[in-house]
Amino acid sequence: MNAPARINSALNVRDQFPALGNWHYLDSAATAQKPQAVIDAITGAYSRDYATVHRGVYERSASMTDAYERSRAAASKLVGGQPNELVFTRGATEAINLVARTLPKDGRSRVLLSQLEHHSNIVPWQLAGFEADVVPLTPDGQIDLDAAEAMLTEEHCIVGFAHVSNVLGSILDAERAADIAHSKGALLLLDGCQAVPRTSVNIGKIGADFYAFSAHKLYGPTGIGCLWGRAELLASMPPWQGGGAMIEKVTFEESTYLDPPARFEAGTPHIVGAIGLHAAVDWVESLSLEAIHAHECALVAQTRDALRGIDGVTVYGPDDSAGIVSFNVDGVHPHDTATILDDAGVAVRAGHHCAQPLMRWLGVEATARASFAAHSDSSDIDALVKGIEQVKRVFA
Ligand code: ALA
Repeated sequence: MNAPARINSALNVRDQFPALGNWHYLDSAATAQKPQAVIDAITGAYSRDYATVHRGVYERSASMTDAYERSRAAASKLVGGQPNELVFTRGATEAINLVARTLPKDGRSRVLLSQLEHHSNIVPWQLAGFEADVVPLTPDGQIDLDAAEAMLTEEHCIVGFAHVSNVLGSILDAERAADIAHSKGALLLLDGCQAVPRTSVNIGKIGADFYAFSAHKLYGPTGIGCLWGRAELLASMPPWQGGGAMIEKVTFEESTYLDPPARFEAGTPHIVGAIGLHAAVDWVESLSLEAIHAHECALVAQTRDALRGIDGVTVYGPDDSAGIVSFNVDGVHPHDTATILDDAGVAVRAGHHCAQPLMRWLGVEATARASFAAHSDSSDIDALVKGIEQVKRVFA
């Protein structure tokens, strides 16, 4: 096989990230660095445009409300949805908790999850009283949809799968997952945290019922995320947090609530977070998610090829993973690997990646993980490889 081509800043955006400098940041799956356009939008919102939303009669509040709602429309459109189908949350974790806490079970108390789920797509279901069944993985680390089909029953209320694995980068065949879920009258929730920053998502085409994602992995700010839900499903769900902004009428005896999405947004929201998220959506759309995906896939191919060429390095996950490569250096704890890489100016994540059941399936306690972004290029991979050679020298 020929070596994959080198990727030299094909998207040419590295200089738009003021926090990068010469740092080899390979931890974008944990949180993305921010382009100047997002930083400027946040700065402008606090230093020039700031006011509350949905409450003020003065003009600046009306403009801020417009900007907040425009962000909702943009975030929903990014995944192919309508403005009234997108609820702002604190992040994807809160989005999944919202569904787990409020979805009418209609006599079905089971959830079908997979072995590779992030804890945030496991624990909320447990806390909400669901019983989980766990779909195994194929040998290369993809959710085994044949097994899912065989396991799903009419006792399952919902199927919850990662669209892209945060550890292995495995990409789900989401359309097939939706068909399987619907064949037994269940719903499909996709954890889209790792998919939205690196693939083009269209929930209409997929046929998903809920889609959760975070702004901070999409080059936007922390503290804000999104739950996209089909309008009629959101309308069937009761509020889960009470307070201002979500009510129609309040008395001490009872209260009535606004329609979704406002029903699920109690309290003053993360106003500037929404402005930053909108700038992030505009930024990825200006490059196109297809181009970001192609760029990251090429980087993954080059990384997998390079790591396989080093003796004593184990690489996990399928060959066509998206933007994420987990690995281990034989006999070296990934924390030590990551520490030595840090000395070499390379930032990777090491640990269980909030996916302990997947670590058990891999037969390891932890892995090191390199994850890419639009700004990544071959110099990051060269630095990673050089750093791993240093790890091997230190532990020889
Ligand atoms: N889910 C994030 C990660 O995988 C935090 O690193």
